[in-house]
Amino acid sequence: MSSKTFFASSDDSKICVVMVGLPARGKSLIAGKAMRYLGWVGIPARVFNVGTYRRNATPQPNANFFDPHNSEGEKMRRAAAEAAMEDMINWFNAGKGVVAILDATNSTRKRRQWIYESCRAANIEPLFVESICDDEDLIMNNILEVKTTSPDYKGQDPEVAALDFRNRIRNYEKVYEGIGDDENHYTYVKLINVGSTVVINQIKDYLSSRLVYYIQNLHIKPRSIWLSRHGESKYNLTGKIGGDASISDRGEAYARALPGLLKKSGVPPNTKIVIWTSTLKRTIQTARHLAAETGYEKLEWKALDELDSGVCDGLTYEEIAEKYPEDFAARDEDKYNYRYRGGESYRDVVIRLEPIIMELERSENVIIVTHQAVLRCIYSYFLNVAQEQSPWMEVPLHTLIKLTPRAYGTEEQRYKADIPAVSTWRAKGTSAKHQDFPSEVKA
Ligand code: SIN
Repeated sequence: MSSKTFFASSDDSKICVVMVGLPARGKSLIAGKAMRYLGWVGIPARVFNVGTYRRNATPQPNANFFDPHNSEGEKMRRAAAEAAMEDMINWFNAGKGVVAILDATNSTRKRRQWIYESCRAANIEPLFVESICDDEDLIMNNILEVKTTSPDYKGQDPEVAALDFRNRIRNYEKVYEGIGDDENHYTYVKLINVGSTVVINQIKDYLSSRLVYYIQNLHIKPRSIWLSRHGESKYNLTGKIGGDASISDRGEAYARALPGLLKKSGVPPNTKIVIWTSTLKRTIQTARHLAAETGYEKLEWKALDELDSGVCDGLTYEEIAEKYPEDFAARDEDKYNYRYRGGESYRDVVIRLEPIIMELERSENVIIVTHQAVLRCIYSYFLNVAQEQSPWMEVPLHTLIKLTPRAYGTEEQRYKADIPAVSTWRAKGTSAKHQDFPSEVKA
């Protein structure tokens, strides 16, 4: 399979990331994130969650179902694992994917050996990822997370759910075997206490090593990421794209409102947040009151600068449509891949944002003040927005987006400041004509 990506992957490479670990060790979080990351960089990936297969027959079992002495439960869990494996192999054989993630506890040698042999027989490289965690706070957080978000406990009393989930973990503990020295012929990564120690064994190819690098940067500590575009700029007012304009009066009002908006979004006491901006004036100006009022550390990143519009920098959309009509049409046709003459495409932006994503994964609470195209790319990574859709997403000015990673996806909340701004959004196929209400058509 050839994928337009900056990862060189051979046409027949198929990797199965096999999660290993007790429940509440962040496996589903890691699996979901790895899938989103791969999709974001252009590698077709899919999670096969054994619990989802098991739920077909047993939607809400109690802890006894997971007792190793419960032979009926064992039979059904085995059937679920086999169904997931079968679907995964069919998915690969249909040429649909490059990386599958088998999300389950896979907590015994016997189970791992079966997975290894089944994968090898289907020409798939298994990569075991074991999450080991004895930090009680992290486990408790995960239990809290699972009891409130897992379909296994939907509609149940949270206290009863938490107790049952603890008993389920105890049942798994009775038979749990971590990856041992006798399994050193496997390719594996062991993440001990959310990546504070990482053991890597026998990584053989570039894609696996990138994936391992990504996974080792992850942590499962609770945190949020806030995204904001800069306040309305003077270029926004005239509909020009690119440049390094200052913010308008209304942009300045947004900059002043940002500390209050952040507070309104819910920042737990004593939370440390780091402010990231681009190197362009409009983001630095937007973040300056926030930095001054909170004392939060502030970092400027060149990689967060707006998509480079090359020869179109400083033009309005109308001017682009007039001067470069073919480019205007080509961009409408395939906005993700269209590269401005002498500038960048969305795909290029994603490539330069990869180190930002890695750093973001290593970090805890971060507020990013950046630009429309860059924000769309970062947002798409967290919310798993398809490449062709991401450049068309509406991300209004003067709005703070709060993203909170959860075990089963990213939670999003939006906080709109009551400060008007021009709309910079244009739908695919619509005219470049300026309205009374001008549009910056960046991105
Ligand atoms: C489940 O049934 O919820 C998961 C099965 C497993 O991973 O052990």
